[in-house]
Amino acid sequence: MFISFLIVLAYLIGSLSFAVIVSRLFGLPDPRKHGSGNPGATNMLRTGRKSAAALTLIGDMSKGWLAVYLARYFGAQHGVEITATYGAAVAVFLGHLYPIFFGFKGGKGVATALGILFAISPWLGLAALASWLIVFALTRISSLAALTAATLAPILVSYLIGGTLPVAALCIISALIFWRHRTNIHRLLAGEEGRVVKPVDTSS
Ligand code: G3P
Repeated sequence: MFISFLIVLAYLIGSLSFAVIVSRLFGLPDPRKHGSGNPGATNMLRTGRKSAAALTLIGDMSKGWLAVYLARYFGAQHGVEITATYGAAVAVFLGHLYPIFFGFKGGKGVATALGILFAISPWLGLAALASWLIVFALTRISSLAALTAATLAPILVSYLIGGTLPVAALCIISALIFWRHRTNIHRLLAGEEGRVVKPVDTSS
């Protein structure tokens, strides 16, 4: 029962779509209606407002971290630490993808997943972040960097953490990241994915 509360709480935290919140605070157009249409930090960068993109990144990462941290902390007090931690990890991620507060139209989950990984283990978060940064530095393609990190995440979890539930949770999260990047994957395979983040005209 208590675990259900932690999981629902994680989902609600995940439903705070920071791209939409920050765009409203900054008076920017809805990120779901410009650029790639994705409410995420990369698409916020396309508005030309780096501060808005940075705030989105920090917000989406922080909510992933917070939901997992809270679930682990309170789950441990009730003897359900592992189930609460990984249940909350999947729940906060699903909240970001399908936010109840924003018409269930959420993002692709990369920043939130990174926050989740940092909450599980700082080393895990750093390793995933390093893989993202290396691929992005080499290619300047945000989606390719994300897909690389998503591929590595379950492998890293299995080496650094181990256990069926942690690996299963990260496999679900990574599979959903791939699913949400399906149009990016089509563009990558066709050689049409943008190599740099270009600002787009958001005046209309
Ligand atoms: O984190 C999202 C990124 O991987 C792709 O975003 O807007 O280029 O589809 P976007």
